[in-house]
Amino acid sequence: MSVNVNRHATTAASLCYLYYVLDTHPAVLKRLIEEHEDFLGADPAEASTRILAEPTILKRLTYTTAVIKESLRLFVGAGTIRSGIKGYDLIDPRNNQRYPTYVNGPFPIMVRAFPIHRNPENFDNPDVFDPERFLGDNLSKMKKDAYRPFEKGSRDCPGQELSMMEMRITLALTIRKFNLKTVYSEDAPEVMGDPAYNVMFSSAGPAQGLPVKVTFRNVTNM
Ligand code: HEM
Repeated sequence: MSVNVNRHATTAASLCYLYYVLDTHPAVLKRLIEEHEDFLGADPAEASTRILAEPTILKRLTYTTAVIKESLRLFVGAGTIRSGIKGYDLIDPRNNQRYPTYVNGPFPIMVRAFPIHRNPENFDNPDVFDPERFLGDNLSKMKKDAYRPFEKGSRDCPGQELSMMEMRITLALTIRKFNLKTVYSEDAPEVMGDPAYNVMFSSAGPAQGLPVKVTFRNVTNM
């Protein structure tokens, strides 16, 4: 049971970061709301009926999907660990330096997506939130294996489709109804200019659990 609770905690933490980036990027939020209006009806109260009638409609929310993926690129809590294997070396492609993964026993090898996602060799302006990276031709230009919030290979996250769906549904049902305003204090510590930064490990959500002020949103007055 505890495994499931923790698994959903990664989705919950990722949703908190989504609300944070949407609050700090109003143009993205506006476009997201427009997509929801186009696909799920002008009245936010209609959205759940539309989704129930045609659940696959969520897969057609391409901008919503791009926003979620970009938020997961910047704020990814999960990672993985692998065991070293005798005779299996890691090789630094820049200088061919070899790093054995097994010497008198296996080394634990930790793979963290966070530094990979923030590496300028993998993404231009890596600290900038830009959902365009996941749209149209930009997708095909993405460096192989540079994007890995759910990890890669035979042990990658089996819950990735479920969590993507949960995030699409939650955004579709909340973002037009509520305005979540982040309220970090002026002297809140920042990492890389970001008060929400937290040590990206396990299901850590934003710093201080994301302090927010929630109000009803009047979409027409955005
Ligand atoms: C945004 C949400 C999530 C993220 C970022 C995430 C990420 C990850 C990552 C990076 C791994 C390690 C994969 C590896 O070792 O190669 C993993 C494993 C796993 N995830 Fe997720 N996950 C999320 C949500 C979920 C959900 C909702 C479930 C199930 C309901 C789930 C179930 C699992 C399981 C069972 C494993 C272990 C797989 C194995 O060891 O073979 N995850 N996840």
